[in-house]
Amino acid sequence: MNPPRTDARRHHDPDVRGFASDNYAGAHPEVLAALALANGGHQVAYGEDAYTENLQQVIRSHFGPTAEAFPVFNGTGANVVALQAVTDRWGAVICAESAHINVDEGGAPERVGGIKLLTVPTPDGKLTPELIDRQAYGWDDEHRAMPQVVSIAQATELGTVYTPDEIRAICEHAHAHGMKVHVDGSRLANAAATLDVPLRTFTNAVGVDLLSLGGTKNGALFGEAVVVLDPDGIKHMKHLRKLSMQLASKMRFVSVQLEALLARDLWLRNARHANEMAQRLAEGVRAVHGVEILYPVQANAVFARLPHDVSERLQKRFRFYFWDEAAGDVRWMCAFDTTEDDVDRFVAALKEEMAR
Ligand SMILES: Cc1ncc(COP(=O)(O)O)c(C=O)c1O
Repeated sequence: MNPPRTDARRHHDPDVRGFASDNYAGAHPEVLAALALANGGHQVAYGEDAYTENLQQVIRSHFGPTAEAFPVFNGTGANVVALQAVTDRWGAVICAESAHINVDEGGAPERVGGIKLLTVPTPDGKLTPELIDRQAYGWDDEHRAMPQVVSIAQATELGTVYTPDEIRAICEHAHAHGMKVHVDGSRLANAAATLDVPLRTFTNAVGVDLLSLGGTKNGALFGEAVVVLDPDGIKHMKHLRKLSMQLASKMRFVSVQLEALLARDLWLRNARHANEMAQRLAEGVRAVHGVEILYPVQANAVFARLPHDVSERLQKRFRFYFWDEAAGDVRWMCAFDTTEDDVDRFVAALKEEMAR
């Protein structure tokens, strides 16, 4: 039950939402209810609990019988654990220049994982076999870190979504060169909602080896999982997770959140809603002269270019971030709890500020 609005312990206005990040949202009430159910009594620590066991079944129902989930605390941790599992000490990971692992993880893949990232500029955040080839060479050259993995994000950091065929082409290309494919699926649910296909259709069905499965942006309080889809050649995950400080002692509380999202359709409802709000926002923005939408809106993000002073005034009314301040590019994110009214008020405010 929510505390009354006047409760002195509440330090924020629960009716205020912005467009800064899907991480600004709280947790979905169904996730909170599941957490309460998992509370009480004693359960074995470190993942030998009934909730983590049940999560494995849920994960297999989505990704097939060989899939195994390793719940972790956060997305950076999931990526660092996953990438270590498929690289040798001399290994490298090919990724888009805009990849979260490259620009937004504080260097953790390099410093914590000890992995060299080989980056490629992309027009829309998406790699292709041709783009991968700019870095896929020199396996026998000891002067070069050895490309062993291709990491893509689905949806991408720029709010674009790969089709299953595009991911299949990447997997075939990577595998032909002996490389594995990792998907940063911090917004995997948003991609599935857009594509309107099951999660496996664009992951293990097309050759993805392992992924970081998001929970936080999808309505969890916190918690993600590394999901090993094809265990061939991927070992010691449990050890890597602990070594990387991502092993939760009270793991039942991570697992039950992922279970609450994935066991039924909460993951899809939340992702569909966030995507629909982004479509509504994009539609509203397209009608505003002088504002340019930068990338196809295929998930829950809208990237736009507009006059800098307009953004600054708008930021006083709604929170959001500049993406490239010099260019005047901004990012507007929708979350599972964004309302139609939030979007409409934002578009109205944008119109007002553009007209001033
Ligand atoms: C593409 C992508 N990957 C991973 C993450 C997870 O990061 P965090 O470590 O903040 O949970 C994010 C969060 O913004 C993201 O956008």
